[in-house]
Amino acid sequence: MKLVPSDFYMKINRRLSDDVMTELVAFESTVDYKKFIWNDMWDGNYYCNDLTNDQLPSGVIETFSEVFDICENFCFLKNTGNVIKHHDVARRASVTIPLNVTDSYTQFWDWDETKYIKLRHNGEVYLQNNKQRHSVKDNGDEFRLFLQLNFFENDYAWVKQQLDEYKYFQ
Ligand SMILES: [Fe+2]
Repeated sequence: MKLVPSDFYMKINRRLSDDVMTELVAFESTVDYKKFIWNDMWDGNYYCNDLTNDQLPSGVIETFSEVFDICENFCFLKNTGNVIKHHDVARRASVTIPLNVTDSYTQFWDWDETKYIKLRHNGEVYLQNNKQRHSVKDNGDEFRLFLQLNFFENDYAWVKQQLDEYKYFQ
């Protein structure tokens, strides 16, 4: 069966202005990251999730205000790829804002894990279904940097419907 990209991710038609992105990248360089450990294993991700909205540049909140209204928290997340195949433990969906452009991509796998589709962010913002299995291609030493707005209670389908009403996908 052919994989349907919209089951895994949706491209969002908004992005940060260059000025706001510059502010956000400067802020990101100051945050403290922890390794994401699950079952005593590090999955390859570093994250920082103990920040509040008022610490972010206000332009970030303004650009994605409808998402900040309905998401449960946000985090900075970075990895150099080589993230093993997994689905997120608690998180169901996320709006993922890349802070840099790299050659790396996320692989989303079908149910029997024989086929995958590639998500190359290329600087664009995506809603992602974190309950689908995914992995990240090895990116050498280069970090992929993201700001992610997270959903734990509501699932991908619900978030997709909300953001569709706010015209995020047209
Ligand atoms: Fe993940």
